[in-house]
Amino acid sequence: MQGREIFTDRRFGTRPVACADCHADYVEDRIPAARDIKAGRPILGAHGRISAWNGEFVGDALRRYGAGAARCALRYQGRGRSYDDALSPSESGALLAYFRAVSVGSEPRHAPWTALNLPRDSARLADAVDRALRRRGDPEHGTDVFDRACRLCHGAGNTALGPDLHARTFNDTAAARLVWTGRGAMPFFPPGKLSPADVADLLAFLRTVMKHPR
Ligand code: HEC
Ligand code: HEC
Repeated sequence: MQGREIFTDRRFGTRPVACADCHADYVEDRIPAARDIKAGRPILGAHGRISAWNGEFVGDALRRYGAGAARCALRYQGRGRSYDDALSPSESGALLAYFRAVSVGSEPRHAPWTALNLPRDSARLADAVDRALRRRGDPEHGTDVFDRACRLCHGAGNTALGPDLHARTFNDTAAARLVWTGRGAMPFFPPGKLSPADVADLLAFLRTVMKHPR
């Protein structure tokens, strides 16, 4: 119960975003009504993993830091100044118990890292950006993708979680890279969540709302 409260609490950190905004606690493909595109993977099975955050958390650190959740609390939710105060031992225990409670039992212990956010992924990232820029995007589908993946933080009139994009200058290469790499409190979306075709559509939409360089 305590783990579930933390998971859905938009006031857990100083930034009003909850674990549940970025992670499903259900099997994503089986719930057609779940329209949001969440940056993180579902947390089912996370309590049993042998590694998280692409190897940053292994062994005892998995137990102490909520299977890697402390990194999210610190970075995305603005909670505390280090992993140790981002998540207390009892909060970590509660989250692990919650991950266990929602799991179905057949989750893999090793979850492969598919994101493009690491320096060594630069060639794959450049290729994905190139494929997105070469497509003619569909701004209508881009609006839909934006609603499902980005509006939470970039909705007009609410800058608590991210800048108002109307006030920012559009750069297609930079925007495409940013979606896949994240920056600061903006999470990255792996290409399994947002494909080059999705990003091409997003760019077509962003081009209509952001400012243009003179
Ligand atoms: C702004 C979005 C965001 C928020 C908020 C967030 N996360 Fe994450 N989280 C991510 C991303 C992106 C990753 C890295 C990709 C992945 O593994 O899912 C990640 C990774 C993780 C992982 C490690 C997964 C792995 O196998 O490496 C766990 C566990 C986790 N988050 C749990 C949590 C919990 C619990 C909270 C709330 C206390 C939380 N996250 C808040 C986006 C977020
Ligand atoms: C959890 C909140 C969050 C989500 C979700 C999110 N962003 Fe962001 N975004 C941010 C934050 C915070 C920044 C500022 C990052 C920094 O510190 O530089 C940002 C910055 C940006 C910028 C750069 C603005 C500028 O010129 O400086 C763009 C473009 C952008 N986001 C697009 C997107 C798109 C497209 C999506 C959806 C695929 C998205 N964001 C999803 C929080 C978010």
